[in-house]
Amino acid sequence: MSSPHSQTGKFPKLLPAICGKYFTAIAAAMLINGSVVAAEGKPNPEKMQELQKIMQHQMMQMKPELQAKVKALSPKTKQLLMKILAQHSRYSDTATLRQVMTEVLADYQSMVSGIMTDNNEQAADSARRLANHRIPVGGLLPYLGLENINDERLAILSGFNDSVEGNAKKLAAAADAGDMTTAASLVGSISTGCVSCHAVFRGQPGRSNLLR
Ligand code: HEC
Repeated sequence: MSSPHSQTGKFPKLLPAICGKYFTAIAAAMLINGSVVAAEGKPNPEKMQELQKIMQHQMMQMKPELQAKVKALSPKTKQLLMKILAQHSRYSDTATLRQVMTEVLADYQSMVSGIMTDNNEQAADSARRLANHRIPVGGLLPYLGLENINDERLAILSGFNDSVEGNAKKLAAAADAGDMTTAASLVGSISTGCVSCHAVFRGQPGRSNLLR
C-alpha cells in the first residue's frame, strides 16, 4: 500500500534545512507529550514522520510572507495543525479549498440522503468520507487569509474540527449500528461547525468587486 503522501506525486527530494529543523522540533514535541497520537490511542513514530514530511512540503509551497507567519506560530498552534492533519489521509496536488469544500458539501448531502432513506451504509460511508476530506494543495492555511494566520485566530479551528469531523465520525458509528435517530441528531452539530467556521474564515461566496 502506498503512503497517503505518495499520492501527491511531486514530492521534493531535498528540503531546506530550515523547514526540516522546524518541523522536526514540532514532531519531537508531539512525540514527547503524545498529543496527536494519544488522541488516536497509539503512538506511531512512522505516522509522525510522514506528517512532518507533508508539513515540510506544504511550507515549501507557500510564499515567503505566509511562511513567515506560519513560522511565528506558537508550538501549541503548530501541534493543533498537526493534530488536524493527522486525521486525514487524502491529499491533493491541485484542488483548492473551494473545490474541496464543494466535495464536502456533496458528501454532507449524501450523508443526509442516507439518513432520510434509512440507508445506513450510505449515511456511514458519506460521513466517513466527509470526516476524511481531501487536504487542498498547500494545506488549509493558504486559503484562510494572512490576517488569520496567528495563534488567536487559529485556536478556533480546534472546535470547528471537533464539531465537523468529530461528529461526522460519531454519526458514521451510529449509522453503522443502525441507530438513525442518533445519526440524525448529529447533523445539526455538524452544520453548526460548517457555518461557524465560515463565519470566521470566509465571507459571502462569489461576491463581485464590480458592484458598488
Ligand atoms: C475550517 C473551517 C471550515 C469548516 C469547518 C468548513 N468550511 Fe467550508 N469553507 C471554508 C473556507 C475558508 C471557505 C472559502 C474558501 C475559499 O474561497 O478559498 C469555505 C467555502 C465553502 C463553500 C463555498 C465554495 C465556493 O464555491 O466558494 C462551501 C459550499 C462549503 N465551504 C461547505 C462546507 C460544508 C458543507 C462544511 C461542513 C460539513 C464546511 N464547509 C466546513 C472553511 C470551512
